[in-house]
Formats: sequence, structure tokens, C-alpha cells
Amino acid sequence: MKVNGKNYETIWLKPEDERIVQIIDQQFLPFKFVIADLCSVDDVSEAIRSMSVRGAPLIGAAGAFGVYLATIQTTSDHELIKAADLLKSSRPTAVNLSYAVDRALNEIVPEKSREGKMRAAKSFALKLCEEEKEYCRMIGEFGLPVIKEISMRKKEAVVNILTHCNAGWLASIDYGTALAPVYLAHDNGIKVHVWVDETRPRNQGSRLTAWELLQHGVPHTIIADNCGGHLMQRGLVDMVIVGSDRTTTNGDVANKTGTYLKALAAFHNNIPFYAAFPSSSIDWNINDGIPEIPIEQRDSGELKYIEGCKNGKIEKVLIAPEQSQALNYAFDVTPSQFITALITERGICKPDKHGILNLFRERIKNEG
Ligand code: MRU
Repeated sequence: MKVNGKNYETIWLKPEDERIVQIIDQQFLPFKFVIADLCSVDDVSEAIRSMSVRGAPLIGAAGAFGVYLATIQTTSDHELIKAADLLKSSRPTAVNLSYAVDRALNEIVPEKSREGKMRAAKSFALKLCEEEKEYCRMIGEFGLPVIKEISMRKKEAVVNILTHCNAGWLASIDYGTALAPVYLAHDNGIKVHVWVDETRPRNQGSRLTAWELLQHGVPHTIIADNCGGHLMQRGLVDMVIVGSDRTTTNGDVANKTGTYLKALAAFHNNIPFYAAFPSSSIDWNINDGIPEIPIEQRDSGELKYIEGCKNGKIEKVLIAPEQSQALNYAFDVTPSQFITALITERGICKPDKHGILNLFRERIKNEG
């Protein structure tokens, strides 16, 4: 995707020194465009934890690059496994992280020499990025007809799409997950307008989704998190599309906290609700989302303080009584019954075991 006319992805190796990983540091957006260097496993783990890199597919890619940096830093398999455990524990909900770190480990274990491990880890991290990019591109292709159909039904009037959090290119390597079909529709001349949920407490909607839609010229409006239901009641939302941090084999979807409430409101108002994600966000070991998906609890300070920009300086201010308790669950689970369909790199399916396995038939032996 382009930033001020220049092509960017969200993570890459530094061209002058490939032992350094570079990222767009999302903590500074939309106020400043900062590229940060990650030089060690600790740097990567901290970048994931603090959400300098965030969004399920990008967290996975960062984890794979973290394993690569670990092969540079460590001398034994024991240390490598410790580094992998540190990376995997950086954030618990997005399954992409353990998926990517475990795959990276599998690639390097057979290599005997340190150089061999370094080479294998680096090439895996780069391969994973290409894979994820392609998956997101395909999500766009499979999601496009859904938007096209609504546009045709509305006689080419604007299609109003509500999204929660940031599931755009910033959350992946490129293209985005939930936003991939939106970008493609816009590029194909379909009139779209995006309702951008602010997404308290970290405001990924108003800070990141709005920024990237603006960069791409997609019409959008930021709304308070709790406004979506009102818009739906008045016929101002044609569809909802969100990403996923972990989807179970039954089609339950964990995504940014507040997603579930949007799904309930959409269900009540007969508005189609889609979750779009690559297969790296499917947890093949879990059936039932509510009891089984680990839900991250973040620092209560994220609720009691808000960050903004004043005179070019990013500042935090207190917005609640300092002494009050605050509870910060970062994700919630939307049960499959409230989801119209899942959009993946293999196509669109019903949010149930049959639909998912029909797209990922190679899993049938293990899962069916
Ligand atoms: O806490 P975040 O910002 O990492 O949460 C991100 C989301 O909830 C996204 O919707 C999800 O990762 C899917 S993104 C492609």
C-alpha cells in the first residue's frame, strides 16, 4: 500500500543490514510516520506486546522474524526454544503468533549449523510474509462479489460498510483482511463508504483504519464505538466486515473487544456480518470459542488514559478517576450463529465445521 505515494509493507529486513528487522511503528500513527529498527528477540517481543506491531497476521510475521533474530543471537537449541516461548507469550489471543513461531522452529530444527539455522529462519520469515500477502489479496478477491452484489442491489448507490478495529493493511503485511475487499471494491469503481468504529481503548479504528483509508482515498466516517446500532436501525449500514484473531473450527471468531456487540446489533437488524481472515488465524485445535479462546487482558491504564497529539507532541491524559478500578479485556468472541459467512483465501463459507473443512479439505483427516 502507498504512504504519501511510496509503496510500503508493514515489516521487512533493513536493506543495508539484513540482521535488523524494520517496522512501521504503529504506536505513533496517525500523528507521526516512524520506522523502527528491531535488533533482538527482546525488541520483537516488546514491539508485539506494546503494539508497535499489531493485528493478527502481522503479529505472526513479527514472530517469525523474531525467531530469525534469535538464530543470530543464540548458540543452542535450548536458547532458541526459550526465545520462541518469549515471542509466543508476547500476546495470547491471535493464534497467528504461535502458528508462525512454531512453523519457524520446525524449519530450523533440522539445520545443524548456526548459519544453516539463520538461513532457514530468514527464508521462512520472508516466505511467510509472501504467503500472508497472497492470502490477503485472495480475501479481497473473494470478498469483492459480496460488495458488488450489494452495490447492484442498491442500483450503484454507495455501499455503507461498518468495520471494527483495524483489519487493514497495517494489521497484515499488505492489502488487509477485512479491508482487502473494501480496497478492491473502491479500486474497481464501486462506491463504498466505511463507518470506522473508534475502537476504544486503543482507538485502532480512529487512529489506524481512518489513516489508511485516507491514504488510499476511501470515503469513511469515524463513529463512536456505541453508535453502530443506531446507524443500523436507520438503514445506514449495508454490511459489517471485521477481522479475526482466532477462529475456531466451529466458526466462532475472537476479535477486538466490541465485535460481538456489533454482531448482535447486525443480527437484530438483519444486516450481513462477515469475518475475513487468512487460514493462519484458524485454530484447528479449538471448537468452542467462548470457553477455549484465551482472551488477553491489558493494562487498565489503557482505559483510564487517552493518547493524543498536541502541538506535534504525543501525550497521554487521564480521563477517569485515578483511583477507580478498570478492567481491560482486549478481545471478545462472536459465536458463529451471529456471523453470516467467513471470507478466507480459499473462498467464502458458512461459519461452521462443515463449511470450513469444505474449504480446507486437507484438514478433514485430522479434524473430521
Ligand atoms: O489488539 P490489536 O490491534 O492487535 O487487535 C487487532 C484486531 O482485533 C484485528 O481485527 C485482528 O487482528 C484481525 S486483523 C487483520
